[in-house]
Amino acid sequence: MTSDVAQVCFVYITLPGAVSAVTAGRFVIETDSRGDPLGRFVYGRSYLENPDAVDIDPVELKLAEDTYETIQMDGVFGALRDAGPDFWGRRIIEKRAGIPKLREIDYLLQSPDDRAGALGFGTNSKPPAPPRKFNQTIELETLQEIAEALVRDEIPNNPDTEQAQDLLLLGTSMGGARPKAVIESKSGLWIAKFSRYDDRWNYPRVEHAMLELARQCGIDAAESRIVNVAGKDVLLIRRFDRQRTPAGYTRARMISGLTALRADDAPAARDRWSYILLAEELRRIVSEPKADARELFRRMCFNALISNMDDHPRNHAFIAFDRNWRLSPAYDLIPLPTVSQDRRDLAMECGRQGRFANAANILSEYPRFLLDHEEAEKIVYGTQEQVEKTWYNTSLKCGVSAKDAETIRGAFAYPGFSRDLGN
Ligand SMILES: Nc1ncnc2c1ncn2[C@@H]1O[C@H](COP(=O)(O)OP(=O)(O)O)[C@@H](O)[C@H]1O
Ligand SMILES: [Mg+2]
Repeated sequence: MTSDVAQVCFVYITLPGAVSAVTAGRFVIETDSRGDPLGRFVYGRSYLENPDAVDIDPVELKLAEDTYETIQMDGVFGALRDAGPDFWGRRIIEKRAGIPKLREIDYLLQSPDDRAGALGFGTNSKPPAPPRKFNQTIELETLQEIAEALVRDEIPNNPDTEQAQDLLLLGTSMGGARPKAVIESKSGLWIAKFSRYDDRWNYPRVEHAMLELARQCGIDAAESRIVNVAGKDVLLIRRFDRQRTPAGYTRARMISGLTALRADDAPAARDRWSYILLAEELRRIVSEPKADARELFRRMCFNALISNMDDHPRNHAFIAFDRNWRLSPAYDLIPLPTVSQDRRDLAMECGRQGRFANAANILSEYPRFLLDHEEAEKIVYGTQEQVEKTWYNTSLKCGVSAKDAETIRGAFAYPGFSRDLGN
């Protein structure tokens, strides 16, 4: 929906070590002379004078007096988009509001404060108090039922219905497309990822197994566990962007790989969807470039070896609990047992032969990941050996059924991974 009325909101940030937010600046979406959305962001004076102030993001919105402008993504800056809802969260908001599509700023304003990262949005110049109440583990059954009704499209587009009100409980403004909610346990905040009635295998258990397999391959993967709720498995992933303290939750800043690449989802921007470019951006962003570039290389190999073809740039992120940025733990690792035995493509370019998930291709640009040839080969062949040897037992140990393991078998170390490129 477009409108010639400017959309305005304040952007809040929870600073490193703090448990409540301050106002960082003001964000406006106007219409440019051609009628297209134009986003503007300015840091507020008191924020610029705050000695503890940090950049909203290390790429696009550096701490400065400038007025930042963007015409990308309907006028929404990457770091703000990363803090907003994605497919799943937008669906919840649209149903709740009873209208099929909202203005971009309204998605930010109407999403609850459980969002990824340290940012918040509001219409007051002063931020609200941090949320005190989160859904508890015990409420998972209700949340699962509401999520399921939403997936099945059984919730009417009417804000007055009880079901639409129930969506408030789901709350989530976390990104991604799968049904999820944020919940609190005694040890902190988790993302609950639910199964869908049309899943071809037990997604929660398989994702749990892939996170474990990734760890066995030396990858820093998000912590996860499975809980069974009313006969259905739910995957709980510990939030790596929140830390519980006696005073409340501290929040890490977070940007997606998409923002680091200055790219978006539009087909025209996809030539920037690249591990190689991401490694180069990473070198400018993080405090430990060598370690993080090596880790990214390892994840690229791993994704190729489990046929995780959904490894798009929103499934990579950077976080900062203090002034230093690091690659976030790995998440959303899903094997895809596609038919092709000869060639599979990752979602991002991984070598000179483009997106081809192949050992020689992956090895073709190793210096860009700050590796020497020997180290790079060791990672590729070591990861291959580990995946081939342990994917099956790890899956079963994580509760994947033998039947599901057979369904996903074709995803692991497919023949084309080792194909000789002949040059
Ligand atoms: N453990 C985590 N801690 C904090 N944020 C996370 C975590 N896992 C995922 N996220 C954020 O939530 C988004 C959705 O999670 P993801 O697992 O990718 O779901 P989906 O399968 O729906 O894509 C991610 O893009 C990322 O921004
Ligand atoms: Mg995802």
